[in-house]
Amino acid sequence: MTQGPTTPAPAPLLAGKLVGGYRIVNKIAAGGFGIVYRAVSPSGQEVAIKEYLPAALASRAHGDAPVIVARDKRALYRMGLRSFFEEGRALAQIVHPSVVNVLNFFLENDTVYLVMNYLQGASLQQFIVTSASLNHAKVFRESTIRSLFDEILRGLRVVHQHKMLHLDIKPGNIFVTDSDRAVLIDFGAARDVLHQGGKFLQPMFTPGFSAPEMYSRGKAIGPWTDIYAIGACMFSCMKGCPPPDAGKQGWRAHLDSSLSELRGKYSQPLIDLVLSCMQLDPQARPHSVLSVQKILTQAPQSRAHADVSGAYQATQFFPGALRSVEKRLR
Ligand SMILES: Nc1ncnc2c1ncn2[C@@H]1O[C@H](COP(=O)(O)OP(=O)(O)OP(=O)(O)O)[C@@H](O)[C@H]1O
Ligand SMILES: [Mg+2]
Repeated sequence: MTQGPTTPAPAPLLAGKLVGGYRIVNKIAAGGFGIVYRAVSPSGQEVAIKEYLPAALASRAHGDAPVIVARDKRALYRMGLRSFFEEGRALAQIVHPSVVNVLNFFLENDTVYLVMNYLQGASLQQFIVTSASLNHAKVFRESTIRSLFDEILRGLRVVHQHKMLHLDIKPGNIFVTDSDRAVLIDFGAARDVLHQGGKFLQPMFTPGFSAPEMYSRGKAIGPWTDIYAIGACMFSCMKGCPPPDAGKQGWRAHLDSSLSELRGKYSQPLIDLVLSCMQLDPQARPHSVLSVQKILTQAPQSRAHADVSGAYQATQFFPGALRSVEKRLR
C-alpha cells in the first residue's frame, strides 16, 4: 500500500480505549509524527500520551484497527520509531519543572507510546498570536519576556548539561501552563550528542527558528544552535511574528531592520541580546545558556529572586522499562 498526500491521516484511538493501562480521553493534537492524547492513568492521574504514527508511513483505518505499514516503508518506519524512542530516552534523563516530564513509555499496537505529565494551558505560539491580534503597542511586556525566558533557559541549561540539544525550540514547543509555568516540550528532534559519537543526524528545520548552520551540511551543531532559536523566540515575543528565515537571501538585513524597529519599545540590552543570539557565526553568540541567562536577569527588569543555579535531579524511574524497549528496537 502506498501513502500519498491524499491518503487520510491515521485514525486516532477512540475515547475509552485502554493502552498500556492508560484510558484514552480524547485526541489533543495530530502532527506528521503521530497523535497526542489526553488520557488517565490507572491511579487516576491525567497524562498526555504521544503515539508514534507518521501519516506518511503508516495508516490505521479506524481506532480499533491495526497499524499498517507498507513493506517498502518499513525500514523508514523503524528508523522513525527509534528516533521517537530517542525522544523518550532523552527526556527520561531529566526532571526539571521547565522540561516536560516523561512518566513512562511502552510498545503496544506495533508502535511506541510516550507518557508525559498532562499540562494545562496553551503554547507560547497561541499566546503570541492572541496578543499580536490585540494590536497593542507591545506584543509582550519586557518583564514578561525576561521572566518567561529565564524560566525556559533554566530548563534548557539542564538539557545541555546532559549533553543533549533540543534542536526544535520555537514558540509552538514552549508550553505556558495555567499556573504560569513555561515548559519545553517536543524533544522529537533531540539527540543525545554524546552517544552519537559525532555521527550526528541532521534534523528537520523550522524556518525562522532554525540557525543558519542547520541549513548547510557539515556545519557544526551545538548548544549555540539552541541559543539561536531562543533569540528567535524572544524576537517573536517582541514582534508578534517569526523572524526572517536564515536559509533565505537577505536574511541578515531583514533581521537588522526588524530589530531596529523595536528601539524605544524594548530596552537596548534586550534587543542586543536577541541580535547576539542570532548571529550567523556561532562563536559570536553567547557561549552558553548561562551567559544568556545572566544578561537576561542583569538588566533593567531583572527578577530579584532570579536563580540561575539550574537545580535538577537525574531521574531514577523505570530503568527496566527503558532497557527492555531499547532492546526490542535494535
Ligand atoms: N504534556 C503535554 N500536555 C498537554 N498537551 C501536550 C503535551 N505535549 C504535547 N501537547 C500538545 O500536543 C501538541 C503537539 O505536541 P508536540 O509539540 O510534542 O508534537 P508535534 O509538534 O506535533 O510533533 P513533532 O514536532 O515531533 O512533529 C502541543 O502543541 C500541545 O498542544
Ligand atoms: Mg511541536
